[in-house]
Amino acid sequence: MTDEPLVQDLNLTQRPRRLRTTAGMRTLVRETRLSAEALVYPLFVCEGTNIRREVPTMPGVFQLSADEAVRETAAAQKDGVSAVLLFGIPAHKDETGSAAADANAPVQNTVRALREHVDDVTVITDVCLCEYTSHGHCGVLDGERILNDPTVRHLVDAAVSHAEAGAHIVAPSDMMDGRVGTIRAELDARGFDDVAIMSYAAKYCSAFYGPFREAADSSPAFGDRRTHQMDPANSDEALREVELDLDQGADIIMVKPAMPYLDVIQRVKSTFRRPTAAYQVSGEYAMLKAAAQLGWLNEPAVMLESLTAIRRAGADIIITYYAREAARLLR
Ligand code: PBG
Repeated sequence: MTDEPLVQDLNLTQRPRRLRTTAGMRTLVRETRLSAEALVYPLFVCEGTNIRREVPTMPGVFQLSADEAVRETAAAQKDGVSAVLLFGIPAHKDETGSAAADANAPVQNTVRALREHVDDVTVITDVCLCEYTSHGHCGVLDGERILNDPTVRHLVDAAVSHAEAGAHIVAPSDMMDGRVGTIRAELDARGFDDVAIMSYAAKYCSAFYGPFREAADSSPAFGDRRTHQMDPANSDEALREVELDLDQGADIIMVKPAMPYLDVIQRVKSTFRRPTAAYQVSGEYAMLKAAAQLGWLNEPAVMLESLTAIRRAGADIIITYYAREAARLLR
């Protein structure tokens, strides 16, 4: 054996390693840049004051009263995150989720408080009934069937009440057919033509939402969400869903979850070239958190790697429970 390099015989003018020589060279040729500006921070808001209740399945994530949500948002802004996505945990639930459109429910109260107390924050609200219905389904029921068109009526009312409170963007996450166009028309009719719609366009029926349902207390009392959320096996269908939502006036389209669906993010972005969001959902977060707590994964490293991968796939915007932590690391 000699140390005589065998590659000498090859004509090695091409050496990809050359540009990996120093941190400075790697930075110069980096194709994907992750920045805190692309991150959206989801918050769970509840009734009351001074409430900060940690979600057991999502360490570091809290149910917050409006005053605490204001504090959390201001702190996130200091870290470099300037957009939040609000989910409501109402005091009372009923068959039709009427609290979703209540002007004094937690989301509406928090939107007003944020607009009043936090400058330059972009306020996005999740529009769905599952947090508000006694049965935990995303719509109104006839027996065990989730009715599409009657549900859309309620979603429109919720979206309008979020706009009235001052939301910049409403984000329907219900996956009912026709809700984007119907919400757009009603917002316009009421003079909210500047309120944008970020539609959960390709939202899959995913087991990765498990921890969220504990955080939002929104698990279905029976059955599942397979009749409205997408089959994880499909991606042509995702393009069709996105196309329909864009035709109906969606300004931003979303793919959800993110990491198990990078191929879908990539297809959606390259097909439509429109502002594309991806949601790193509760189960993705919980998975990384749990492994990190066990000492099995290096949390800052996997956090940034996963977010970079989601960006590389084509997401312009990433919704993540890691928003604050990632923003701090990116500074
Ligand atoms: C409401 C909604 C859900 C999520 C976002 N909006 C739950 C669901 O569809 O069951 C999941 C978010 C997450 O898991 O982080 N429909």
